[in-house]
Amino acid sequence: PTSPFEFKVADLSLAEAGRHQLRLAENEMPGLMSLRAEFGESKPLTGARIAGSLHMTVQTAVLIETLTALGAEVRWASCNIFSTQDEAAAAIVVGSGTPEAPAGVPVFAWKGESLEEYWECADRIFDWSAEAEAAGADWIGPNMILDDGGDATLLVHKGREFELAGAVPEDAEGDSHEWRIILATLRESLATSSDRWTRVAAEIMGVTEETTTGVHRLYELARDGELQFAAINVNDSVTKSKFDNKYGIRHSLPDGLNRATDTLIGGKVAFVCGYGDVGKGAAEALRGQGARVIVSEIDPINALQAAMDGYQVTTLASVVGEVDILISGTGNKDVITVDDLLGLKHLAIVANVGHFDNEIDMAGLETLEGAERIEIKPQVHEWRLPTGRSILVLSEGRLMNLGNATGHPSFVMSNSFANQVLAQIELYAHGENYERQVYVLPKLLDEKVARLHLDALGVKLTVLTPEQAAYIGVPVEGPYKVDHYRY
Ligand code: NAI
Repeated sequence: PTSPFEFKVADLSLAEAGRHQLRLAENEMPGLMSLRAEFGESKPLTGARIAGSLHMTVQTAVLIETLTALGAEVRWASCNIFSTQDEAAAAIVVGSGTPEAPAGVPVFAWKGESLEEYWECADRIFDWSAEAEAAGADWIGPNMILDDGGDATLLVHKGREFELAGAVPEDAEGDSHEWRIILATLRESLATSSDRWTRVAAEIMGVTEETTTGVHRLYELARDGELQFAAINVNDSVTKSKFDNKYGIRHSLPDGLNRATDTLIGGKVAFVCGYGDVGKGAAEALRGQGARVIVSEIDPINALQAAMDGYQVTTLASVVGEVDILISGTGNKDVITVDDLLGLKHLAIVANVGHFDNEIDMAGLETLEGAERIEIKPQVHEWRLPTGRSILVLSEGRLMNLGNATGHPSFVMSNSFANQVLAQIELYAHGENYERQVYVLPKLLDEKVARLHLDALGVKLTVLTPEQAAYIGVPVEGPYKVDHYRY
């Protein structure tokens, strides 16, 4: 068994710098701070053991300390190899102790993990054997997951599936490099225990999922009758996807571009693949900087929206030779192909803000004959192509707003994470109300999250009169819209 304080971060001496940033972030996260005030005494998460897999940033540090203030125990990993802010990770491990005697939350995350290390960290958040031993308890894992992109949930489900089958198949579906690493991780686990993941799955009451891509995976598991515990889709709270995905990207995409390349955006041709919530934020940010923005879509409704918003909408292949900045934000795979990359202008910038790196055919680029990769600086690579031209690829095709910058700013993440905290409370404290299905939070809680952020912006809300409320058929105190209202 490991010690309860086992952890792995880059450098504990960064803790003080991290703590300063946390202090400033708390001031920008009124949603989380008011939940601490509201639930700090009743501690509805007492007894909750949360395995967290979400970008280990300063904002996530404030989330973690909110969960612990509400009574939870937590183990944490990042959900991306480049997204950790090492000072935030250090501050969380040190907690109220000192770097010599840390006494905070076990974090397994540093900026620049290898894929092998990434999956090892994901495994570590499920090993609660030391805590169980200390508590004299017979559980071995967490009873809650807080996930972003679904990797933690995937590990439990695949682990259990292979244990029931008695072995990890040699040729399980998917043959990517990363998939082989996941299989190796599970093979190692199966060699030491034949029922670890089955037990872990049985102990888990629920998962709260942060992003579009992870939510997509959850609905698939539920559809196939394979979901092992209840799930709350945090992404589709209005105060999450219509704010974080859109306004968050509007801030952090140009931040990533500037920190990576400092190329002037104004006057350039920028191409955005996908006009969902993320694509809308990306296109608006680039246009705001003076770029001429072109959009691609596969959905006629989103395509029409983009056109009405004033963007040219066309296929990438038809204009690729004009593009200076190419951004992908679809949640789909193979959106940018090697042919597209070969057709780009000299030193065009290629970057992805969708959850996984397979939006860009990075595997194809890496095996392309005659292509050469030169590191300009970490997470910025020039690829010399056989055409004689080069392109600049950010964060190796992974989320560049987290790899090249520090992700979304605190205020918008306070909305997302207030939903996360409410969802954790809901599943943990009222688990009996939930089946093995995917749920969204009730609209009243969504409205509550928005309310918690109004004062900080000086917003004065108009209050319905009882007569007006009766006239439009809603309670004075909300909820104000039917569930299918689109905002
Ligand atoms: P969404 O579903 O609202 O939008 C995606 C859009 O892409 C859809 O309109 C879809 O029709 C379109 N699309 C799909 N395949 C396409 C293709 N081949 N070419 C062009 N368009 C295509 O999803 P949302 O919320 O915008 O999320 C997109 C991705 O960004 C997801 O992977 C999500 O997890 C991720 N995300 C990343 C964040 C970040 O910080 N970088 C923040 C939030 C979400």
